[in-house]
Amino acid sequence: MKLDAATRAALRERYEACFGKNRARLRVALAPGRVNLLGEHTDYNGGFVLPMALDRHVAVIYRTRSDAQIRVHTADRNPKHCDADDSFAADARRLSPVRNARKKWSNYVRGVAAVLSERGARLCGVDLLIWADLPEGAGLSSSAALEVAVGHALLDAAGEKCDAQEMAFACQQAEHRFAGVKCGIMDQTVVARAQAGCALLLDCRSIETRHVPVKLGGWSFALFDTGVRHKLASSAYNIRRMECENAARKLRVAALRDVGLDELRTRGSKLNVTEQRRVRHVVTENLRTIQFAHALAHGDINEMGHLLNLSHESLRKDYEVSCRELDILSSVIRIADELDKDGAGLAGVGARMVGGGFGGCVLALVRPDRFEALVDLVRERYRRLSGLQLGLAMLLQPGDGARVATL
Ligand code: GLA
Repeated sequence: MKLDAATRAALRERYEACFGKNRARLRVALAPGRVNLLGEHTDYNGGFVLPMALDRHVAVIYRTRSDAQIRVHTADRNPKHCDADDSFAADARRLSPVRNARKKWSNYVRGVAAVLSERGARLCGVDLLIWADLPEGAGLSSSAALEVAVGHALLDAAGEKCDAQEMAFACQQAEHRFAGVKCGIMDQTVVARAQAGCALLLDCRSIETRHVPVKLGGWSFALFDTGVRHKLASSAYNIRRMECENAARKLRVAALRDVGLDELRTRGSKLNVTEQRRVRHVVTENLRTIQFAHALAHGDINEMGHLLNLSHESLRKDYEVSCRELDILSSVIRIADELDKDGAGLAGVGARMVGGGFGGCVLALVRPDRFEALVDLVRERYRRLSGLQLGLAMLLQPGDGARVATL
């Protein structure tokens, strides 16, 4: 989202339709979505990840109130019905999650307010409007973007500050406790700390980071959305995490990060077959992430493509978090050359599912100058093979982390 004059005017108009006009200045907190280039399901195993921020965002527009209430509204509802969708006291230390299924989205807001309050922030009354150009449930971390944007808005309105990584930890806590997803630290960290033009190599144990410039010559990363959203994704996610923790206990290590390929070979018999597969994914994915970061730093496109394909296979076969539509879409992108009679040069050099899995997007390395033709071909083949319409397809530019601005 570019904060140009037209976007600012549109955001102000939506806000004032909801909360009315007054003389106080409006401010906005912007937090990006993210795509993970490599390192899937490694973060909660203490391993390595390599995400980058997108230039699509969740925006939280805000203005302080004279009382101590936090009111929040989403911009996708009818602006004529402007009762706040949710409201609660600014001292959120004893706040609990909402149970009403229609309002579950507000648990991200509540969770962040509660955790920041518990950590000593003195929040003030504020009216928040949430607006996004980032698709939900597509594996692009719209929930982390919402959490971090809300965190910035609440602290900035109250005149408080916190370090970007502290914000990431607070938002991860909020997600664990208020959304019930036992996520790792990747999403909130990259959303809070990304740098434009770079991917973020993150060691999820030490939280050491390295910004790796994304320079791809005549190539580009691209996303293709299957349009599929599986309801069971969050429960399956928590099960995978539990399986990994059980396996780590059996192997007597603190986390699967501490297991190498040799160890898996020699001590793998302590694990059941499912656990062996899960561990194999985590161990090989950690290695691939380091290799990918190296290939990215050296502009080695073929190596990156190869690693993307291997990662998809590992997520499909060993970690079992892919689905039919992700498999179809990634294969169609990989073999586009063969599918089209004059398709030479259309195919992506590598493609894989991204995010938690069970739907969402495929990441691919493609030629930007052939992108339109590739999308046309993929759209037609994907519809024919899956019976579904392809969702969003876009070329990616690595964006900046979260920030606040005056509107
Ligand atoms: C979700 C979680 C992350 C990470 C990915 C899988 O996005 O929020 O912490 O575990 O899945 O890599």
